[in-house]
Amino acid sequence: MNALSLACHQTPILSLDGVSYTYPDGTRALNQISLEIPRGSKIAVLGANGAGKSTLFLHLNGILKPQQGQILLEGRPVKYSRSFLGELRSQVGIVFQDPDSQLFAMNVFEDISFGPMNMKLPRPEVKDRVERAMEITRITSLKNKPTGHLSYGEKKRVAIAGVLAMEPAVVILDEPTAFLDPRLVDEMVVLFEKLHSAGQTLIMSTHDMDLAYRWADYCYVLNHGTVVARGRPEDIFTAHSVLKENNLQQPWVLKVFSGLLSSGLIGEGLEAPRNEEQLFHYIKKAAIAPVTENRPD
Ligand SMILES: Nc1ncnc2c1ncn2[C@@H]1O[C@H](COP(=O)(O)OP(=O)(O)OP(=O)(O)O)[C@@H](O)[C@H]1O
Ligand SMILES: [Mg+2]
Repeated sequence: MNALSLACHQTPILSLDGVSYTYPDGTRALNQISLEIPRGSKIAVLGANGAGKSTLFLHLNGILKPQQGQILLEGRPVKYSRSFLGELRSQVGIVFQDPDSQLFAMNVFEDISFGPMNMKLPRPEVKDRVERAMEITRITSLKNKPTGHLSYGEKKRVAIAGVLAMEPAVVILDEPTAFLDPRLVDEMVVLFEKLHSAGQTLIMSTHDMDLAYRWADYCYVLNHGTVVARGRPEDIFTAHSVLKENNLQQPWVLKVFSGLLSSGLIGEGLEAPRNEEQLFHYIKKAAIAPVTENRPD
């Protein structure tokens, strides 16, 4: 089931209704944003630098408060009381774009423990959660290392582990793979799939269009604080005007696919491939059978 069909049947876990926000220096970062995050979805938030992605995320767990409009948690308007914010933050965890603004404890274990300790969980439960979070993000060997000595990619994973240890229903990942080496990016994607399979809702911003395309089941595109496009990745990434107006690159899988189509090497009527395996499948079929026989399965 995709995000859109889920949205039709259930109250979204989070939604924004006409949210606007202007920073104190007068920058209008969000302008009348309305959108829904269905439970269990994988949402990509896309847009050029400065489009408003991080500002949007800071609203989703109550760090920023809308000046107009409202945020809804499972249909209930978010209130900015201590108790409501506590509930919101236990359900919605955010991994910041810059890991240095997330990490502060002396060492990795302490840092990841901070969230679950704050939730007043019993110590053995905290320890279990921290160990599980370190295992799943593959940082167990860094357990006693001072956070200040970590590499950028290690810091990113510690920041993710800190949020996972709180076991929030929604995990917001603000550019989680920026500056990571390709192997780590692949490991991250495997991790995100595990979280999704376990029922968590994931929201990610990224400038990596190949990643957004293969990973997301629904996309929102922001431009100057406004949602200018929304839809399934296969629709967003084949809409050339949306890509051009928002400085988004077409994923390579789609570029190759349209090249093969326009040169007649594969037949019309095939669905856009979502990943390289699907694309190779089309190419293999085209190599074996003449184009006229290369019909969808
Ligand atoms: N603390 C702040 N004070 C003033 N303006 C800010 C502040 N933080 C962000 N902005 C401005 O708000 C707008 C949206 O910024 P935001 O960080 O949300 O964009 P973004 O889409 O996350 O960009 P990027 O892709 O570079 O991370 C930008 O014009 C930015 O300059
Ligand atoms: Mg940002």
